[in-house]
Amino acid sequence: MKVVGFVGSPRKKGNTARLVNEVLRGAQESGAETKVYFLNEMNIKGCQGCRACKKPEGVCIQKDDMAPLYDEIRNTDAVVVGTPVYMFQMTGQTKLFVDRLYTFLNDDFTHKLGEGKKTLMVYTQGQSDPGTFQSSFDLNKGVLSFLGLKVQDTIVSAGTYKPDDVLKNKEAMEKAYNAGKTVCKK
Ligand SMILES: Cc1cc2nc3c(=O)[nH]c(=O)nc-3n(C[C@H](O)[C@H](O)[C@H](O)COP(=O)(O)O)c2cc1C
Repeated sequence: MKVVGFVGSPRKKGNTARLVNEVLRGAQESGAETKVYFLNEMNIKGCQGCRACKKPEGVCIQKDDMAPLYDEIRNTDAVVVGTPVYMFQMTGQTKLFVDRLYTFLNDDFTHKLGEGKKTLMVYTQGQSDPGTFQSSFDLNKGVLSFLGLKVQDTIVSAGTYKPDDVLKNKEAMEKAYNAGKTVCKK
């Protein structure tokens, strides 16, 4: 069992990273091998819209830090995507990554990930009401599932500003840990 996490916050020791790591800790304790990538420190350019990936057996022609992530995702059992809410939505770093997952779509808009990858979404936000950005989270769930990353659970920690505020949100931390354990079972 392998679980790969992607953190879309620039703060490596911030709330989102802590929550993603808590998911991965749960997965590790269920015997999974885990890995985490910090998108902010990677050279990931925006999709160029060239559609080279839509040719039969086509792949993304950009040879940046996204290139090895395609196989990483193909070869993993589950994916965790974590992002803070920036301006009501995912961070730019996360959006660049998601746009590049266009490679996983065939020309007929079916995806190339077989039965799909089990996926968990993790959000942190300053707003204290965890329901405030629900429409944005629903949209992201739809987009990722369409790309073959089937979102089966979403963890939200609200009211976080200082990098370790999430540690006070016992409910979110526990949900993250349990989601990591659960993703290894079903
Ligand atoms: C540029 C920027 C934009 C933000 N936009 C929002 C927002 O629209 N809604 C919100 O609730 N919080 C917003 N926040 C607060 C962050 O989502 C929140 O502090 C989050 O927990 C930071 O995550 P991190 O610690 O992983 O970096 C914003 C923060 C920054 C720096």
